[in-house]
Amino acid sequence: MKPKILVSREVFPEVIEHLAAYFEIDYHAEDAALQPAELAARLAGKAGAITMLSDRIDDDALAGAHSLKAVCNVAVGYNNFDLAAISRAGVMATNTPGVLDDTTADTVWALLMASGRRIVAADRWLRAGYWQRWKFNDDWLGQDVHHATLGILGMGRIGQAVARRAAGFAMKVIYHNRQPLPAEQERACNATWVDKDALLRDADFLVLMLPYSPAVHHIVGAAELAQMKPSAHLINVARGGIVDDGALIDALREKRIAGAGLDVFENEPALDARFCELDNVVLTPHIGSSSRATRLAMAMCAADNLIAALHGRRPPNLLNPEVFGG
Ligand code: DGY
Repeated sequence: MKPKILVSREVFPEVIEHLAAYFEIDYHAEDAALQPAELAARLAGKAGAITMLSDRIDDDALAGAHSLKAVCNVAVGYNNFDLAAISRAGVMATNTPGVLDDTTADTVWALLMASGRRIVAADRWLRAGYWQRWKFNDDWLGQDVHHATLGILGMGRIGQAVARRAAGFAMKVIYHNRQPLPAEQERACNATWVDKDALLRDADFLVLMLPYSPAVHHIVGAAELAQMKPSAHLINVARGGIVDDGALIDALREKRIAGAGLDVFENEPALDARFCELDNVVLTPHIGSSSRATRLAMAMCAADNLIAALHGRRPPNLLNPEVFGG
């Protein structure tokens, strides 16, 4: 008999075919998250689960899941996991690092360029029939990307992929991490470590690339926004909650910074309607990793983690190794 697993949300058919060779699948084949009570009910009796960022896996979700051995997230971020609760339940947790770095870095650049050069506002203007009404020296004056200073807060794999792309624009790249990168990696990114105040003060484009944890909640709030240049743009493709959205809305509305490109928000999937009233912000619905090839690679990575976990092997991307003997 094949072990039973849950796939909590619609994925590509190839992924289901791959999993079906190993498992009996309870497939929630809809592009909508299961409600918490249904998620808990469907985890009961399962040996494993493929989960999405929209699934909160905590004590309540695990309460009846006595045979569960592994939960495998289709995401590199896992702030939907209560890792302590999963570990207490003796369940392996995995994520999908690496496979989405380049696609996510591309999305950062798309938002950076769109915000700096006012592409989305210009598109709206043109569609509204206003070609003749722009002012040469006012309406569409954006921030040059070439030769500007790119500041990156959080210089992990994706931050470094963002930095490497800056070479084509002859940008100066500065970054802040708790620890500077080893010299060889810094050279590969042509990037210089600076303290957080210098990063906020000097960046023309400030890119946030931190994983979310309570320690970085609102790490960019009113005080940090006040340190930025009035001509600067803030780009967040990392996680909602890193930025204080209310403070950002105020800063954008009062033109205390020039613009923002945002893929992530507090309280997703709800969007603070005040963002929609601003024309100096570009908004996308958490599509950082969203190319077919990358989303497929992420789902396959999660599937392979689950196959390893349920066949007595250590999953390649185990998040709680301490529970399973280091
Ligand atoms: C991740 O993998 O954490 C991304 O945010 C999902 O697109």
